[in-house]
Amino acid sequence: MEQLLQKIEAYKKEMAGFVAQKSEEAETFRIKYLGTKGLVKEVMGEMKNVANDKKREFGQILNEFKLFAEAKYEELKATTDNGQPAAADTGIDLSLPADPLPLGSRHPISLVRNRMVSIFQRLGFAVAEGPEIEDDWHNFTALNLPENHPARDMQDTFYISQNPDWLLRTHTSSVQVREMEKGKLPIRIICPGRVYRNETISARAHCFFHQVEGLYIAEEVSFADLKQTLYFFVKEMFGDDVKVRFRPSYFPFTEPSAEMDISCLICGGKGCNVCKHTGWVEILGCGMVHPNLLENCGIDSTKYTGFAFGMGVERITMLKYQIKDLRLFSENDVRFLKQFTSAV
Ligand code: PHE
Repeated sequence: MEQLLQKIEAYKKEMAGFVAQKSEEAETFRIKYLGTKGLVKEVMGEMKNVANDKKREFGQILNEFKLFAEAKYEELKATTDNGQPAAADTGIDLSLPADPLPLGSRHPISLVRNRMVSIFQRLGFAVAEGPEIEDDWHNFTALNLPENHPARDMQDTFYISQNPDWLLRTHTSSVQVREMEKGKLPIRIICPGRVYRNETISARAHCFFHQVEGLYIAEEVSFADLKQTLYFFVKEMFGDDVKVRFRPSYFPFTEPSAEMDISCLICGGKGCNVCKHTGWVEILGCGMVHPNLLENCGIDSTKYTGFAFGMGVERITMLKYQIKDLRLFSENDVRFLKQFTSAV
């Protein structure tokens, strides 16, 4: 018995002096003392030789011995990490939860653009995209706007100085031309994208903005189809209570042409600054595709007809969220941006 106690004390001393830099060394400790053939087990095995009246006392000593070995092993494990400085030494509590990563939110223009796209997709429109740097043909000439046509002034254009034939597209109608040129009919597309115009930046205008334009070409497409498509869009986008009206207008690429107004969402049609006290706000231009356009793109205008429309995403977003200054969209002020959730 006395001998055994001495042995335990000797092992304890040995264990206390054990140092480990690497986790492999801590493992060596475990195998030597706590393993199935380890010294702790071996000492425990001595229990059977202990006299019955001493068993209780001795059991406690053995138990304490085992706990001592286990505690030492835990300590060695915590202070070694494959040669890296031990976590405990750095004073960093690795169990603390990390600071939450702030999640961004979608830009209001993206939210509304996505919503617009999904509404038209439900009507069978596919999304088409094209380059932002365009040539004169796709942006103007093919759209029945030949050189020197006065309607070119409707859209102040940025030209690329290296090549006067290149420009920043002023509308996504250029994408419609590209689709028509492919010659695959019928065509039922919407063209979302960024466009550029050389305008003075103000609360109502910017030198770049976003459009969603639409084009449907098939046999026997009528103005009634156009109206129904746009009615559906307005109801889905703004709800059932919004009133809609069409006004005759002029665009070189459509004949007849119209602009569409909706009743002002800010004042409910009573008259306010946003609707300039008319009760109506214009949201898009539209019309029946001009036969010249179809011919320019190699489509038989005696067989096919179509409608087209185009609208600004900024305008729709401003109405939807009652935003009064268009410059907020591009200033990247997080206080503005974080107010928008995906529920539009
Ligand atoms: N492309 C025109 C614009 O940007 C909008 C439009 C498209 C009008 C299609 C009529 C038909 O102003």
